[in-house]
Amino acid sequence: MRVYDIIYKKRNGNELTPEEISFMVRSYTEGTLPDYQMSAFLMAVWFRKMTGKERAALTSEMLHSGTTIDLSSIKGIKVDKHSTGGVGDGPSLSLAPIVAAAGGIVPMMSGRGLGHTGGTLDKLESIPGYTVVIDQTLIKKNLTDVGVVIMGQTEDIAPADKKMYSLRDVTATVDSIDLISGSIMSKKLAEGMDALLLDVKTGKGAFMQKLEDSIALALSMVEIGVNLKKAMFSYITDMNQPLGNAVGNSLEMIQAIEILKGKGPSDITELVILHSSRMLVMSKIAKNQEDARNIVQKMIHSGKALEKLEGMIKGQKGDPGVIEDYSLFPGASIKEELRSPESGYISDMDALTIGISSVLLGAGRETMESKLDYGVGYTLHKKLGDKVKKDESILTIHANDKDKLEKAKNKLKEAFKFSKEPVSIPPLVYGYVTMDGFTEEVHPRP
Ligand code: URA
Repeated sequence: MRVYDIIYKKRNGNELTPEEISFMVRSYTEGTLPDYQMSAFLMAVWFRKMTGKERAALTSEMLHSGTTIDLSSIKGIKVDKHSTGGVGDGPSLSLAPIVAAAGGIVPMMSGRGLGHTGGTLDKLESIPGYTVVIDQTLIKKNLTDVGVVIMGQTEDIAPADKKMYSLRDVTATVDSIDLISGSIMSKKLAEGMDALLLDVKTGKGAFMQKLEDSIALALSMVEIGVNLKKAMFSYITDMNQPLGNAVGNSLEMIQAIEILKGKGPSDITELVILHSSRMLVMSKIAKNQEDARNIVQKMIHSGKALEKLEGMIKGQKGDPGVIEDYSLFPGASIKEELRSPESGYISDMDALTIGISSVLLGAGRETMESKLDYGVGYTLHKKLGDKVKKDESILTIHANDKDKLEKAKNKLKEAFKFSKEPVSIPPLVYGYVTMDGFTEEVHPRP
C-alpha cells in the first residue's frame, strides 16, 4: 500500500477501504507516516468527506490504537454524556452526580478546554486536590462505591486521536463532521460505556454553527455508536450565547454546586434536568422522560445529588469542603463591571467572542503550555433579549492581572449589540437525533 495512492484516491473523492484507513491511522500513530502526509490526508477528508463505512473504519482504528477500559465486572448500564463544547457549558458537572444519586453508573471521560470552549476537567481541577488522571483500579472502585467518576484521557487511550487532534488543530481541519465523529466516538467507546447521550451544540460559539451541520454531526455519531450496539441519543442545543451565568473554571464549578442546591440559573438548570432525565431513561432506571424528571427533582431537592458530588470529589482526592465554603476555590483579586453603553435590548451576546475574551483573561489556554488561572472569568447579570439601561452592569469581570483584564475587556465589548426594539431569542433546545433522524422539539429558553 502506498500512502501517496491513498491520499490521491481520497483527494479525488473516492471511498477508501477499511484496510487503507487502518494503514494510514496505524502508520501515523507508530510514527512511520510523516505529519505532512497525514496533513494532506486530513485536508482531503475535510473537502471530500467520508461515507458511513469509512467513518466506522476510522473510529475503530483510532479506538484500537490504544487500551480500552473493561467495565464488564460492574453490574448495570454504564451511561455517559458528551457535549461538543461551548461557553459556560457546564451541565456535566451537575448531571453526573444526579444520575449516580438515582442509581446510574457514570464513567465520564472528559476533555480540557479547546480553543474558545471550556473543559470539564479544567473546571474540576479548580477544586483543590481533585485528580483527573486515575488508574483503572481506582476508576472501578469509585464506580462501585460512588457510581460516578469524571476523569481524563490517559496516554494509552486512543493515542491516534491525541496525535491526529494536535495536527488538526494547526492545519484547519478540526471542523470536519467525519473527523470530529471519529475523535469523540473513539474516546467514548474506549471508556467502556453502554449508552451515550450527546449534546451537539449549534450557533456562534459551537464548532458547528449551522443547524443542519449540527444535525449531521449528531447523526454521524449516533450511527457509529448504534452500529457498535451502544444506546445513543443526541440533543441539539443552542450555543449562540453562553449557557448559565458563569464563564470560567471556579465560577462554573460554583454554579454547578448551586444547581445541585436548587439555586442555579434557569437555562442551565433546565438543560441539566433534561439531560439527566434522558440518561435515566437510557439506563432503564426510569420508564419515560416524565418519570425521570420526577426522580431528578427528588435527587436535587433531597440533597442526594450533592452528597454524590461530595463522594466523587473525595474519591478523586479533592477537597469536599468547597461545597460549603466557596472561598476554598481559587479567586480573583480584581472585580470590574462591564457596563451597557446604551439603553435598549441586548440583541447579540456572541458566545464565540465571549469565549475568546475569557481565554485572554486566563480562563483558557492560548498555547498548549499556557497555565490556567482558575479564578478568573465572568458572572453574567443579563442575557440575550434582556432590557438594559445605559451604564447598567451587564456582567462582572473577575481578573487577576490588569493587562489581561484590559485585553479581555476590549474583546468582550465586541460581543454585544443592542436594539431599541425587543428581540427574539434562540431556543434552549432545537430537537433531538436518533437513528430515525432529526425530530424538531423546541424548548424555549426558560
Ligand atoms: N472534541 C473532540 O474530542 N474531538 C474533536 O474533534 C472535536 C471536539
